[in-house]
Amino acid sequence: MDTRNVKIENPAFPKEEELIEAAEILANGGLVAFPTETVYGLGANALDEEAAKKIYAAKGRPSDNPLIAHVAEKESVSELAERIPDSGKKLMDAFWPGPLTLIFPKSKRVPYGTTGGLDTVAVRMPDHPIARMLIRLAKVPVAAPSANTSGRPSPTTAEHVFQDMNGKIDMILDGGAVEIGVESTIVDVSGEVPTLLRPGAITMEMLEKVLGKVAVDPAILGPMKEGIHPKAPGMKYRHYAPKADMTLVQGKSQDEMVESVRNLAKEKIEAGFSVGILCTDETMSQYPQGIVRSLGSRMKEDTIAHNLFAVLREFDDIGVEYIFSETVPKDHLGQAIMNRLSKAAGYHIVK
Ligand code: TXA
Ligand code: MG
Repeated sequence: MDTRNVKIENPAFPKEEELIEAAEILANGGLVAFPTETVYGLGANALDEEAAKKIYAAKGRPSDNPLIAHVAEKESVSELAERIPDSGKKLMDAFWPGPLTLIFPKSKRVPYGTTGGLDTVAVRMPDHPIARMLIRLAKVPVAAPSANTSGRPSPTTAEHVFQDMNGKIDMILDGGAVEIGVESTIVDVSGEVPTLLRPGAITMEMLEKVLGKVAVDPAILGPMKEGIHPKAPGMKYRHYAPKADMTLVQGKSQDEMVESVRNLAKEKIEAGFSVGILCTDETMSQYPQGIVRSLGSRMKEDTIAHNLFAVLREFDDIGVEYIFSETVPKDHLGQAIMNRLSKAAGYHIVK
């Protein structure tokens, strides 16, 4: 299949004529990758089981891993969800459009091919002009997982999508680099207690301000124990996995952490390996050797989230064999950053 790349001239103000063909592809059961504020999504008609199947094929994704249905208006939720619990309403009012996905009991209209056989459906209203206009023009809810090959870091630029999806999908809409860089926060509001299934830019602190108590699915805190099943099926797969052997380093202080990263890197470099170091603006000057990349500033963790997946992909391209990474505190956006770093490292953390 020929994959067409369509560059949107001004991503903040797309024109309908730039998106109409993409919308037609979606309405006719095809696949279009498009930017959202979190990461690039791989879109298909969420109500068309055959179209959903094509997503799984293009990504090489296990078919028990459900898709998020993207909508352009809050009103569209009522056709996808059987009911909208109070907690869901509050979160929609507070954070939509935005990087928050909500899990509702599904309506009969949503095919099991979209929900991976579950009786619930994930819905998100993205805050990106291209995504919103595309969904509106397609006139269907758009199922869209991140537009990466299953297991690779999520794409934050159209080039990343092209690397993984060229020849497998109909079209890529190039809207430049995304803003946030990690996938949406997922909250399950289908049960008694609202539960965080995946941390993201809408942080636990922000959710608690709106809802009071929010439970946390144990799957996001650490490696999966035998017999425990994460409520978001996707959280059980090794994600974001770089080709290199990756280790996270914690320390009692920042200096101690930096010293450990430096020593671990030195050992592998002296043994002849290619070594990548993931650090921050504040610590970058303290690494004399290795392929050193700053993720961003500790004072502005959104810069770290923004660069994380791109740097992991860059290390893959360079072919580094070992990655040693600094860690950040696990509160606020740090929870999402540490969740992605921990998964990338296969939970290999040294203290
Ligand atoms: O930011 C995002 O959410 C991006 C952009 C494109 O919107 N999309 C995204 O989709 O990250 P994906 O498919 O890569 O991740 C969706 C996650 C998976 O872990 C999946 O298991 C979970 O959402 N999920 C989907 N439907 C679910 C459901 N009904 N119950 C529990 N988890 C669900
Ligand atoms: Mg994904």
